[in-house]
Amino acid sequence: MNPSTIHGGRLIEAARRWGIPPDHWLDLSTGINRKGWKVPPLPPHVWQHLPEEDDGLDQVLREWGGAPGSAGCLPVPGTQAAIQALPLLRSPCRVGVPRPGFSEHARCWALAGHEVVPVPLEQLAGDDGWLDELDVLVWINPNNPTGITVGRDRLLDWHARLVAKGGWLVVDEAFADGYGGISLVPMSSAPGLVVLRSLGKFFGLAGIRAGAVYGEAAITGALQSTLGPWALSHPARYLMARALKDKRWQSHTAERLQLDSERLDQCLRQAGLPPTAGTLLFRYLPHPNARLMAESLARQGVLVRYFETPSALRFGLPGDAFEWERLERTLGYMRNVIDRRLVDC
Ligand SMILES: Cc1ncc(COP(=O)(O)O)c(C=O)c1O
Repeated sequence: MNPSTIHGGRLIEAARRWGIPPDHWLDLSTGINRKGWKVPPLPPHVWQHLPEEDDGLDQVLREWGGAPGSAGCLPVPGTQAAIQALPLLRSPCRVGVPRPGFSEHARCWALAGHEVVPVPLEQLAGDDGWLDELDVLVWINPNNPTGITVGRDRLLDWHARLVAKGGWLVVDEAFADGYGGISLVPMSSAPGLVVLRSLGKFFGLAGIRAGAVYGEAAITGALQSTLGPWALSHPARYLMARALKDKRWQSHTAERLQLDSERLDQCLRQAGLPPTAGTLLFRYLPHPNARLMAESLARQGVLVRYFETPSALRFGLPGDAFEWERLERTLGYMRNVIDRRLVDC
Protein backbone atom coordinates (compact mmCIF):
# COMPACT_ATOMS: atom_id res chain seq x y z
CA MET A 1 0.00 0.00 0.00
CA ASN A 2 1.16 3.54 -0.77
CA PRO A 3 2.43 5.01 2.58
CA SER A 4 0.39 8.18 2.01
CA THR A 5 -2.85 6.20 2.06
CA ILE A 6 -2.07 4.37 5.33
CA HIS A 7 -4.22 5.47 8.27
CA GLY A 8 -4.70 4.35 11.86
CA GLY A 9 -7.25 1.78 13.01
CA ARG A 10 -6.17 -1.09 10.75
CA LEU A 11 -6.52 -3.70 13.46
CA ILE A 12 -7.23 -6.70 11.24
CA GLU A 13 -4.03 -6.10 9.30
CA ALA A 14 -2.05 -5.69 12.55
CA ALA A 15 -3.56 -8.92 13.87
CA ARG A 16 -2.46 -10.75 10.75
CA ARG A 17 1.01 -9.23 10.72
CA TRP A 18 1.83 -9.80 14.39
CA GLY A 19 -0.17 -13.01 14.94
CA ILE A 20 -2.25 -11.48 17.75
CA PRO A 21 -6.08 -11.82 17.51
CA PRO A 22 -7.93 -8.48 17.01
CA ASP A 23 -9.64 -8.55 20.42
CA HIS A 24 -6.29 -8.92 22.24
CA TRP A 25 -5.01 -5.52 21.08
CA LEU A 26 -4.90 -2.21 22.84
CA ASP A 27 -5.61 -0.06 19.81
CA LEU A 28 -4.23 3.46 20.29
CA SER A 29 -3.60 3.96 16.59
CA THR A 30 -6.42 6.48 16.00
CA GLY A 31 -7.61 9.72 17.59
CA ILE A 32 -11.10 8.29 18.08
CA ASN A 33 -12.65 8.75 21.53
CA ARG A 34 -12.78 5.24 23.05
CA LYS A 35 -15.69 6.25 25.29
CA GLY A 36 -17.87 7.69 22.58
CA TRP A 37 -21.45 8.89 22.70
CA LYS A 38 -23.66 5.93 23.57
CA VAL A 39 -25.85 4.96 20.63
CA PRO A 40 -29.52 4.31 21.52
CA PRO A 41 -31.66 1.65 19.80
CA LEU A 42 -33.07 2.98 16.52
CA PRO A 43 -36.82 3.02 15.75
CA PRO A 44 -37.64 0.68 12.81
CA HIS A 45 -38.75 3.54 10.51
CA VAL A 46 -35.20 4.97 10.64
CA TRP A 47 -33.92 1.80 8.99
CA GLN A 48 -36.81 1.52 6.56
CA HIS A 49 -37.42 5.08 5.28
CA LEU A 50 -35.23 7.21 3.07
CA PRO A 51 -33.60 10.15 4.87
CA GLU A 52 -35.37 13.51 4.39
CA GLU A 53 -33.55 16.85 4.27
CA ASP A 54 -36.16 18.73 6.30
CA ASP A 55 -35.92 16.42 9.34
CA GLY A 56 -34.55 19.24 11.54
CA LEU A 57 -30.88 18.20 11.38
CA ASP A 58 -29.98 21.45 9.61
CA GLN A 59 -31.16 23.52 12.59
CA VAL A 60 -29.42 21.22 15.08
CA LEU A 61 -26.15 21.54 13.15
CA ARG A 62 -26.41 25.34 13.00
CA GLU A 63 -27.08 25.67 16.72
CA TRP A 64 -24.35 23.21 17.66
CA GLY A 65 -21.70 24.93 15.54
CA GLY A 66 -22.96 28.50 16.08
CA ALA A 67 -23.32 29.00 12.32
CA PRO A 68 -24.88 32.23 11.01
CA GLY A 69 -28.24 31.83 9.25
CA SER A 70 -26.75 32.85 5.89
CA ALA A 71 -24.01 30.20 5.99
CA GLY A 72 -24.39 27.01 4.02
CA CYS A 73 -24.62 23.93 6.23
CA LEU A 74 -24.44 20.41 4.83
CA PRO A 75 -24.40 17.09 6.69
CA VAL A 76 -22.03 14.68 4.92
CA PRO A 77 -21.15 10.96 5.21
CA GLY A 78 -17.92 11.70 7.09
CA THR A 79 -15.68 14.67 6.36
CA GLN A 80 -13.79 12.29 4.08
CA ALA A 81 -16.66 12.60 1.57
CA ALA A 82 -16.19 16.39 1.52
CA ILE A 83 -12.40 16.06 1.36
CA GLN A 84 -12.84 13.97 -1.79
CA ALA A 85 -15.50 16.16 -3.42
CA LEU A 86 -14.27 19.72 -2.68
CA PRO A 87 -11.34 19.53 -5.15
CA LEU A 88 -13.84 18.75 -7.93
CA LEU A 89 -15.46 22.16 -7.46
CA ARG A 90 -12.51 24.24 -8.72
CA SER A 91 -10.55 24.30 -11.93
CA PRO A 92 -6.88 23.35 -11.49
CA CYS A 93 -5.10 25.71 -9.10
CA ARG A 94 -2.37 25.81 -6.44
CA VAL A 95 -3.42 24.31 -3.13
CA GLY A 96 -1.42 24.50 0.09
CA VAL A 97 -1.69 21.65 2.60
CA PRO A 98 0.09 21.42 5.97
CA ARG A 99 3.05 19.06 6.26
CA PRO A 100 2.76 16.93 8.28
CA GLY A 101 -1.02 16.70 8.16
CA PHE A 102 -3.85 14.25 7.47
CA SER A 103 -2.74 13.01 4.05
CA GLU A 104 -6.16 12.66 2.41
CA HIS A 105 -6.29 16.39 1.64
CA ALA A 106 -3.14 16.34 -0.49
CA ARG A 107 -4.11 13.04 -2.11
CA CYS A 108 -7.59 14.22 -3.14
CA TRP A 109 -6.55 17.66 -4.46
CA ALA A 110 -3.73 16.05 -6.46
CA LEU A 111 -6.08 13.39 -7.81
CA ALA A 112 -8.39 16.12 -9.11
CA GLY A 113 -5.52 17.70 -11.08
CA HIS A 114 -4.51 20.53 -8.73
CA GLU A 115 -0.94 21.45 -7.90
CA VAL A 116 -0.41 20.58 -4.25
CA VAL A 117 2.09 22.74 -2.34
CA PRO A 118 3.17 21.33 1.04
CA VAL A 119 3.31 23.97 3.78
CA PRO A 120 5.84 22.81 6.40
CA LEU A 121 4.57 23.63 9.90
CA GLU A 122 7.96 25.23 10.71
CA GLN A 123 6.95 27.94 8.23
CA LEU A 124 4.41 29.19 10.79
CA ALA A 125 7.25 30.76 12.77
CA GLY A 126 7.94 33.26 9.99
CA ASP A 127 5.72 35.71 8.14
CA ASP A 128 2.86 34.53 5.96
CA GLY A 129 4.39 35.49 2.59
CA TRP A 130 4.07 31.86 1.41
CA LEU A 131 0.31 32.44 1.10
CA ASP A 132 0.87 34.62 -1.95
CA GLU A 133 1.65 31.63 -4.18
CA LEU A 134 -1.58 29.79 -3.25
CA ASP A 135 -5.17 29.90 -4.50
CA VAL A 136 -6.53 27.53 -1.87
CA LEU A 137 -5.19 26.71 1.56
CA VAL A 138 -6.37 23.65 3.46
CA TRP A 139 -5.61 23.97 7.17
CA ILE A 140 -6.13 21.26 9.81
CA ASN A 141 -6.89 22.93 13.12
CA PRO A 142 -5.80 21.48 15.49
CA ASN A 143 -3.37 19.64 13.27
CA ASN A 144 -3.41 15.87 13.03
CA PRO A 145 -0.90 14.48 13.90
CA THR A 146 1.11 17.29 15.56
CA GLY A 147 -1.69 19.00 17.53
CA ILE A 148 -0.44 22.45 16.47
CA THR A 149 -3.28 24.98 16.56
CA VAL A 150 -3.43 28.31 14.73
CA GLY A 151 -5.50 31.08 16.35
CA ARG A 152 -8.68 32.42 14.80
CA ASP A 153 -7.25 35.86 14.00
CA ARG A 154 -4.40 34.47 11.96
CA LEU A 155 -6.73 32.09 10.12
CA LEU A 156 -9.10 34.95 9.35
CA ASP A 157 -6.19 37.00 8.06
CA TRP A 158 -5.20 34.09 5.79
CA HIS A 159 -8.80 33.84 4.63
CA ALA A 160 -8.94 37.57 3.78
CA ARG A 161 -5.73 37.33 1.75
CA LEU A 162 -6.90 34.27 -0.17
CA VAL A 163 -10.40 35.50 -0.84
CA ALA A 164 -9.09 38.83 -2.16
CA LYS A 165 -7.77 36.88 -5.18
CA GLY A 166 -10.78 34.55 -5.52
CA GLY A 167 -9.27 31.82 -3.35
CA TRP A 168 -10.59 29.60 -0.57
CA LEU A 169 -9.60 28.72 2.96
CA VAL A 170 -10.70 25.19 3.90
CA VAL A 171 -10.38 24.52 7.64
CA ASP A 172 -10.57 20.90 8.76
CA GLU A 173 -11.79 21.01 12.38
CA ALA A 174 -12.09 17.23 12.84
CA PHE A 175 -10.21 17.56 16.17
CA ALA A 176 -11.63 20.94 17.30
CA ASP A 177 -14.46 19.61 19.50
CA GLY A 178 -13.98 20.25 23.19
CA TYR A 179 -11.96 23.46 22.65
CA GLY A 180 -13.55 26.87 23.13
CA GLY A 181 -12.92 29.76 20.74
CA ILE A 182 -11.01 28.09 17.92
CA SER A 183 -13.75 27.14 15.47
CA LEU A 184 -14.42 29.26 12.38
CA VAL A 185 -17.98 27.94 12.04
CA PRO A 186 -19.41 31.19 13.51
CA MET A 187 -17.78 33.06 10.57
CA SER A 188 -18.67 30.46 7.95
CA SER A 189 -21.01 32.65 5.89
CA ALA A 190 -17.92 34.48 4.57
CA PRO A 191 -17.16 33.99 0.87
CA GLY A 192 -14.47 31.41 0.16
CA LEU A 193 -14.54 29.91 3.65
CA VAL A 194 -15.25 26.20 4.21
CA VAL A 195 -15.18 24.48 7.59
CA LEU A 196 -15.29 20.70 8.08
CA ARG A 197 -16.53 19.03 11.28
CA SER A 198 -16.56 15.30 12.07
CA LEU A 199 -18.53 13.04 14.39
CA GLY A 200 -15.82 10.44 14.15
CA LYS A 201 -13.35 11.79 16.74
CA PHE A 202 -14.72 13.50 19.90
CA PHE A 203 -18.10 11.75 19.58
CA GLY A 204 -16.38 8.43 18.85
CA LEU A 205 -18.84 7.64 16.05
CA ALA A 206 -16.36 6.98 13.22
CA GLY A 207 -18.36 3.94 12.08
CA ILE A 208 -21.56 5.80 11.20
CA ARG A 209 -19.64 8.08 8.77
CA ALA A 210 -21.08 11.46 9.72
CA GLY A 211 -19.75 14.99 9.51
CA ALA A 212 -20.75 18.46 8.45
CA VAL A 213 -19.56 21.19 6.09
CA TYR A 214 -20.22 24.84 6.91
CA GLY A 215 -19.32 27.62 4.51
CA GLU A 216 -20.25 29.99 1.73
CA ALA A 217 -23.70 28.81 0.64
CA ALA A 218 -22.67 28.60 -3.05
CA ILE A 219 -19.87 26.18 -2.15
CA THR A 220 -21.93 23.92 0.14
CA GLY A 221 -24.68 23.95 -2.52
CA ALA A 222 -22.25 22.80 -5.21
CA LEU A 223 -20.91 20.15 -2.81
CA GLN A 224 -24.44 18.92 -2.16
CA SER A 225 -25.05 18.52 -5.91
CA THR A 226 -21.79 16.61 -6.26
CA LEU A 227 -22.60 14.22 -3.40
CA GLY A 228 -26.15 13.69 -4.65
CA PRO A 229 -29.36 12.80 -2.82
CA TRP A 230 -29.44 10.66 0.36
CA ALA A 231 -25.66 10.91 0.79
CA LEU A 232 -26.00 10.60 4.56
CA SER A 233 -27.98 7.55 5.70
CA HIS A 234 -31.15 7.90 7.77
CA PRO A 235 -29.55 6.13 10.81
CA ALA A 236 -26.57 8.50 10.60
CA ARG A 237 -28.82 11.61 10.44
CA TYR A 238 -30.93 10.35 13.34
CA LEU A 239 -27.94 9.63 15.58
CA MET A 240 -26.10 12.79 14.58
CA ALA A 241 -29.01 15.03 15.62
CA ARG A 242 -29.27 13.33 19.02
CA ALA A 243 -25.54 13.33 19.71
CA LEU A 244 -25.22 17.02 18.82
CA LYS A 245 -28.13 17.95 21.10
CA ASP A 246 -26.62 16.09 24.05
CA LYS A 247 -24.82 19.10 25.55
CA ARG A 248 -24.35 17.46 28.95
CA TRP A 249 -22.45 14.55 27.47
CA GLN A 250 -20.34 16.98 25.42
CA SER A 251 -19.26 19.13 28.36
CA HIS A 252 -18.60 16.12 30.57
CA THR A 253 -16.57 14.50 27.76
CA ALA A 254 -14.49 17.65 27.16
CA GLU A 255 -13.54 17.70 30.86
CA ARG A 256 -12.74 14.00 30.93
CA LEU A 257 -10.63 14.17 27.76
CA GLN A 258 -8.68 17.09 29.22
CA LEU A 259 -7.75 14.96 32.24
CA ASP A 260 -7.06 11.84 30.19
CA SER A 261 -4.86 13.65 27.68
CA GLU A 262 -2.83 15.15 30.56
CA ARG A 263 -2.51 11.69 32.06
CA LEU A 264 -1.27 10.27 28.74
CA ASP A 265 1.26 13.09 28.55
CA GLN A 266 2.52 12.18 32.03
CA CYS A 267 2.64 8.46 31.20
CA LEU A 268 4.82 9.10 28.18
CA ARG A 269 7.08 11.51 30.07
CA GLN A 270 7.57 8.99 32.87
CA ALA A 271 8.59 6.46 30.24
CA GLY A 272 11.24 8.90 29.00
CA LEU A 273 9.23 9.76 25.88
CA PRO A 274 8.16 13.40 26.18
CA PRO A 275 5.56 14.29 23.55
CA THR A 276 5.87 17.67 21.84
CA ALA A 277 2.17 18.34 21.67
CA GLY A 278 -1.17 16.80 20.92
CA THR A 279 -4.90 17.34 21.25
CA LEU A 280 -7.58 16.20 23.66
CA LEU A 281 -7.53 12.86 21.83
CA PHE A 282 -3.88 12.01 21.17
CA ARG A 283 -0.23 12.80 21.86
CA TYR A 284 2.44 13.27 19.20
CA LEU A 285 5.96 12.06 19.77
CA PRO A 286 8.71 12.74 17.22
CA HIS A 287 11.53 10.23 17.80
CA PRO A 288 14.36 8.94 15.60
CA ASN A 289 13.53 5.34 16.61
CA ALA A 290 9.77 5.69 16.15
CA ARG A 291 9.44 2.73 13.80
CA LEU A 292 11.36 0.38 16.08
CA MET A 293 9.32 1.57 19.04
CA ALA A 294 6.04 1.04 17.20
CA GLU A 295 7.15 -2.49 16.35
CA SER A 296 8.18 -3.21 19.94
CA LEU A 297 4.77 -2.01 21.16
CA ALA A 298 3.00 -4.06 18.48
CA ARG A 299 4.79 -7.21 19.60
CA GLN A 300 3.16 -6.60 22.97
CA GLY A 301 -0.25 -6.03 21.42
CA VAL A 302 -0.25 -2.23 21.66
CA LEU A 303 -1.01 -0.57 18.34
CA VAL A 304 0.11 3.04 17.85
CA ARG A 305 0.36 5.12 14.72
CA TYR A 306 3.82 5.39 13.16
CA PHE A 307 4.74 8.26 10.82
CA GLU A 308 7.75 7.94 8.57
CA THR A 309 8.36 11.65 7.75
CA PRO A 310 9.14 13.09 10.19
CA SER A 311 9.81 9.95 12.22
CA ALA A 312 7.16 10.04 14.94
CA LEU A 313 4.51 8.15 16.90
CA ARG A 314 0.97 9.16 17.74
CA PHE A 315 -0.70 7.68 20.82
CA GLY A 316 -4.49 7.73 21.21
CA LEU A 317 -6.08 7.59 24.68
CA PRO A 318 -6.71 4.30 26.48
CA GLY A 319 -10.38 3.71 27.29
CA ASP A 320 -10.61 2.13 30.76
CA ALA A 321 -8.54 1.39 33.87
CA PHE A 322 -7.37 -1.94 32.51
CA GLU A 323 -6.11 -0.30 29.30
CA TRP A 324 -4.30 2.46 31.20
CA GLU A 325 -2.57 -0.14 33.33
CA ARG A 326 -1.61 -2.13 30.24
CA LEU A 327 -0.17 0.95 28.53
CA GLU A 328 1.79 1.97 31.63
CA ARG A 329 3.23 -1.53 31.96
CA THR A 330 4.16 -1.71 28.29
CA LEU A 331 5.77 1.75 28.36
CA GLY A 332 7.74 0.68 31.45
CA TYR A 333 9.19 -2.15 29.41
CA MET A 334 9.93 0.26 26.55
CA ARG A 335 11.78 2.52 28.97
CA ASN A 336 14.06 -0.36 29.95
CA VAL A 337 14.72 -1.02 26.31
CA ILE A 338 15.58 2.63 25.71
CA ASP A 339 17.58 3.02 28.94
CA ARG A 340 19.69 0.00 28.09
CA ARG A 341 19.96 1.28 24.53
CA LEU A 342 18.98 -2.14 23.37
CA VAL A 343 16.37 -0.80 21.01
CA ASP A 344 15.79 -4.39 19.89
CA CYS A 345 12.48 -3.11 19.46
C1 LIG B 1 -7.79 15.67 10.28
C2 LIG B 1 -8.83 14.70 9.78
N1 LIG B 1 -9.82 15.16 9.04
C3 LIG B 1 -10.77 14.34 8.56
C4 LIG B 1 -10.73 12.99 8.80
C5 LIG B 1 -11.84 12.13 8.24
O1 LIG B 1 -12.79 11.93 9.24
P1 LIG B 1 -14.25 11.43 8.98
O2 LIG B 1 -14.39 11.13 7.53
O3 LIG B 1 -14.42 10.22 9.82
O4 LIG B 1 -15.16 12.55 9.42
C6 LIG B 1 -9.71 12.46 9.58
C7 LIG B 1 -9.65 11.02 9.85
O5 LIG B 1 -8.74 10.51 10.45
C8 LIG B 1 -8.73 13.34 10.08
O6 LIG B 1 -7.71 12.91 10.83
